[in-house]
Amino acid sequence: MDLAKELKEGLCSRPKYIPVSLRYDHQGLQYDEQCFDLDEYYHYRAEEALIKSSIKDVVSNLCIPCKVFDIGCGNTKKAQMLLNELLQYQNTVEYAPIDVSKDFLNEVCDVLFQIYGDSLKVDPMSDDLFQALSKIGNYRGRKALLWISGLQIFPKDTQLKMLSNISSTLEGNDVCLITADITQNKEVIEKAYLNFDEQRPNAKLYTNGIHVLNREFEANIDISQFKLEGKYVEDKDVSSASCVQVWLRSLCKQSYNIEKLGITMTLEEGEKLMLHGGNGMSHKYTSNQLEYLFAKAHLRVLNKWENENSALFLCKREM
Ligand SMILES: C[S@@+](CC[C@H](N)C(=O)[O-])C[C@H]1O[C@@H](n2cnc3c(N)ncnc32)[C@H](O)[C@@H]1O
Repeated sequence: MDLAKELKEGLCSRPKYIPVSLRYDHQGLQYDEQCFDLDEYYHYRAEEALIKSSIKDVVSNLCIPCKVFDIGCGNTKKAQMLLNELLQYQNTVEYAPIDVSKDFLNEVCDVLFQIYGDSLKVDPMSDDLFQALSKIGNYRGRKALLWISGLQIFPKDTQLKMLSNISSTLEGNDVCLITADITQNKEVIEKAYLNFDEQRPNAKLYTNGIHVLNREFEANIDISQFKLEGKYVEDKDVSSASCVQVWLRSLCKQSYNIEKLGITMTLEEGEKLMLHGGNGMSHKYTSNQLEYLFAKAHLRVLNKWENENSALFLCKREM
């Protein structure tokens, strides 16, 4: 779906929402990087440690050479652990970093060139995940799709669509490597995600989608007229997952004319503007929930590595 259509749908629904992807412009990706340094933000460190400890074993399970497609690559630091290991076996590696912010991706490519020079054949794609997957589907060589710390940010129904699309691009010995947050400790999760001090990078990241909306769609939403709030929602049902919900609560009745969308958005005092669609974001899964989700998307788990907070899955398409 195109972004304008998605936004219009979100801002006219009940409750009103903006899609979670909107926050990841160049500035949003910088906030995302700053979150990694927060002591209580366990997720980044847990994933990094997991990839570091398992990467030799992971690569020994891959059919190489293969081209690596990194969906929602961010700063690529975690993917670099995979690239470094592949380069132990190949003189060159083909790598397609994929993300929504073109500016950020250009900077990432410069850094990759400084680190790897010509040994990394970089083929950047500044695309939305669905657009990228339709292009990846046309690639005829062997491929490994990497989706690190990406699955959990999207609402539950979108996750299944994305995984199913990933699955349908895989052929023969193609694989995907997907990470997920398996933390179940409520206190740890609330400390990491629900501190709304406005100086903190996580709070800035949550509200960055509003700045993008103001800039890209000629809205003039005044963030000072809202309060940032949220909660953790535990859900152990096998077909679901626990998640975090975050919203801006309107402090007064207010109306905004959003020129480029051709709509006027009115919020009552106390009304919530959700900062993600669907059930929530930052999902936390049990093993059963992940098995259920992968099976529904026709992905067969070939191998799995995990630590206390994170899990890494190597999957193939179920033929
Ligand atoms: C939590 S970050 C993870 C970044 C990186 N993979 C890592 O683990 O450090 C999620 C990434 O997904 C990207 N992203 C968000 N929505 C996307 C979309 N619709 N299509 C492609 N990438 C998206 C963001 O820009 C961001 O880089």
